Amino acid sequence: MSHPFDPGYVREPFLTLCADYPGTDVYPTDQFRTEWGPIFHRGRLDGSARVLLIGQDPAQHETVVRRILVGEAGRRVQGLLSKLGITRSYVFINTYLYSVYGSVRAKTRRAAALVAYRNRWLDALLVGTQVEAVIALGTAANEAWQMWTATPSGQAARFAYAAVTHPTQPESSSQNDKAKLAAATAKLLKNWNTALQTLAPAIQHPDQPAALIPYGETWGAAERPPIPAFDYPAGLPAWMCEQDGWARRSGADALAKRRNLTVTVPKGVLP
Ligand code: URA
Repeated sequence: MSHPFDPGYVREPFLTLCADYPGTDVYPTDQFRTEWGPIFHRGRLDGSARVLLIGQDPAQHETVVRRILVGEAGRRVQGLLSKLGITRSYVFINTYLYSVYGSVRAKTRRAAALVAYRNRWLDALLVGTQVEAVIALGTAANEAWQMWTATPSGQAARFAYAAVTHPTQPESSSQNDKAKLAAATAKLLKNWNTALQTLAPAIQHPDQPAALIPYGETWGAAERPPIPAFDYPAGLPAWMCEQDGWARRSGADALAKRRNLTVTVPKGVLP
């Protein structure tokens, strides 16, 4: 049996971008989980991407897998792209290279070195490529896009563009209240339906031509497809490719983990 995988950062300018990433001087440790390391992208780096998507920041799943948008948010955007007929020809980067810890201060968000490094990725993925449309997930991603469009290469560029509600905004805004969650989900899907109207005409080269079927009030099962194996690094165990809650904090020490407290490791577990 053959196992497709993503070969990673095998050519320039991505080799240099991955060697030159910023550290804690640019991403302060009180605002980012720099100890989880930088996580760069997901999708095609070979010039075949037709859609560029800008997310926010990596979380637990992304930290283990070393690709972005591989958890619930990732499945939702995978479904959004499928509606446009894009099943392979996409590439994602995040606004932030590291997972956000709490919130990001305006001064950090706008720091020249942070913005310049992200703009190098955007130049690499957009200038002279065949990307037809750009999607920003949430306000930070929209701001990142506006910052790039203010640069000389951004000013020269023309792309269909949609800034949409972040895919997990309903969960973060509803705090376990089911009625609020349902209302926020319906609102998000309405927002995504509007974006689809803008984006669909711009996709001239879909992977699989698709009739545009709008979302209803909540996600259908087919609207959260799995992340394809060809997006993952080689040799990833099957359970890491599934949305089975493996990165969820649970069990007796869950609260301690959430508070970032030290967890007592039973005797004999560590050498
Ligand atoms: N994971 C990411 O990598 N980015 C997001 O925006 C959300 C989850």
